[in-house]
Amino acid sequence: MKNEQHVIITLFGATGDLAHRKLFPALFRLFKEHIIDEHFAVIGTARRSWSDEYFREKIKEACLEESEDSEDINRFTSHFYYLSHDVTNTAHYVALNNLANSLEEKYSTHGNRLYYMAMAPQFFGLIATHLNEENLLNVSGYKRLLIEKPLGRDLESAIQLDKEIKNAFKEEQIFRIDHYLGKDMIKFLPKLKSLPLLKENWSYKGISKIEVTMAESLGIEHRAGYYEGTGALRDMIQNHALQIIASILSPNNRPESGSQQTLRSISLSELFIPNTDQIKQNFIRGQYGEGDGQLPYLSEEGVGNESRTETYVAGKFESQSPTWKGVPIYFRTGKRMKTKSARVDILFKKPLIILKGLKPINVLSIIIDPNPHITGRLLDKENSRWSVDWRTLTNGEKQIEAYQRLIEEALNGEKADFVTIENLKQTWRLIDPIESYWESEEPINLPTYNSGSMGPELANKIIKDDSGWLFKK
Ligand code: BG6
Repeated sequence: MKNEQHVIITLFGATGDLAHRKLFPALFRLFKEHIIDEHFAVIGTARRSWSDEYFREKIKEACLEESEDSEDINRFTSHFYYLSHDVTNTAHYVALNNLANSLEEKYSTHGNRLYYMAMAPQFFGLIATHLNEENLLNVSGYKRLLIEKPLGRDLESAIQLDKEIKNAFKEEQIFRIDHYLGKDMIKFLPKLKSLPLLKENWSYKGISKIEVTMAESLGIEHRAGYYEGTGALRDMIQNHALQIIASILSPNNRPESGSQQTLRSISLSELFIPNTDQIKQNFIRGQYGEGDGQLPYLSEEGVGNESRTETYVAGKFESQSPTWKGVPIYFRTGKRMKTKSARVDILFKKPLIILKGLKPINVLSIIIDPNPHITGRLLDKENSRWSVDWRTLTNGEKQIEAYQRLIEEALNGEKADFVTIENLKQTWRLIDPIESYWESEEPINLPTYNSGSMGPELANKIIKDDSGWLFKK
């Protein structure tokens, strides 16, 4: 039985899409598991003027799929309060603190405060400064900050943002979310990699290439305002794909083996930063056009008809670690692709029997999402394919949705699945040169690909061996 948490959670961006789609359902699941129960309150803030009642109705809507029992959901939402908030207005922080103080007493929350910033990043620093100056961090329990991407748009702005946040919070109090680090399969990777034959072969000695695919079938879904200034490289590769790569490369058996968090940072620091020639050869971008009855990107609402924003990117990294010398790490991501799939495909140098009773394979596919599982096959031999589902793989471990897991970990003060400042800096060091080159590229090389395809043809050229992309679909 887990301990019940005592806490006030203040959510900036409570009327936003993330709160609605992910955070309220995640909190509700924590409530159903009694991890938050009697002694918690959530203060939602945003600019709009909502009443507590309206806010609670919105939360009910968001949790519709999770709730069968109306008494349960009513009890849950009764812990939610709403305060209309202008992030620049000092008086609003005073009001926020007064409300928090009174709820602290009402729910006996032991002076613990969790602040969650799920809103436009340009305000993160300002909010942190106000929280400090208006005394919202002067509490008898813990104070923690949960923060969402985008964490800067390059190394310089990420460092600047960090400096502003550090006016109010110390590194150990900051929980930077990359929700991929909370996904079941990523959590399970260390165990998977410790299967004896995988462990033995988990290096350049056993592996000839690694491929990360993060294909999405949806388009930008009314997010042009955000996406136009961002693009696929910053939206998916700087964070999720690099964390997946870091988790795959992080060593199982290094003498200094620290936490998964440290190991990921080490792996990232060992990736070669691509130079201009390598960028030209190994990194390509694309933009979706028509196909599948869908609008091309340039006709999406909020997108200018000369937009150069990439909705697809593919590339290749390589590690300078002696463990991984010469192993290409390919990646690709795109909107409006043929399928939704986040996965890692690995080609081994020789066939292996990784689990007793299974046929030998040299291609291992680790499916992260949807439906985490693994499959194996021999290259070019479809009939050798097997698949092991999550239950069998984990001996019946329960699946936990990423946001639920990460919020619970932050409430417990567990930092292993969050992104450190060092890790964040490493990711921008890798991405900045690519963005800079692309910004200056003339003429621009931005092929279109059909909606519903696996991306532009050009992406096939970056793979130098005969097998091409292991995941072809
Ligand atoms: C987000 C991106 O971080 O991840 C979105 O901003 C993307 O553009 C999403 O759709 C993908 O996450 P998931 O969990 O649905 O694979």
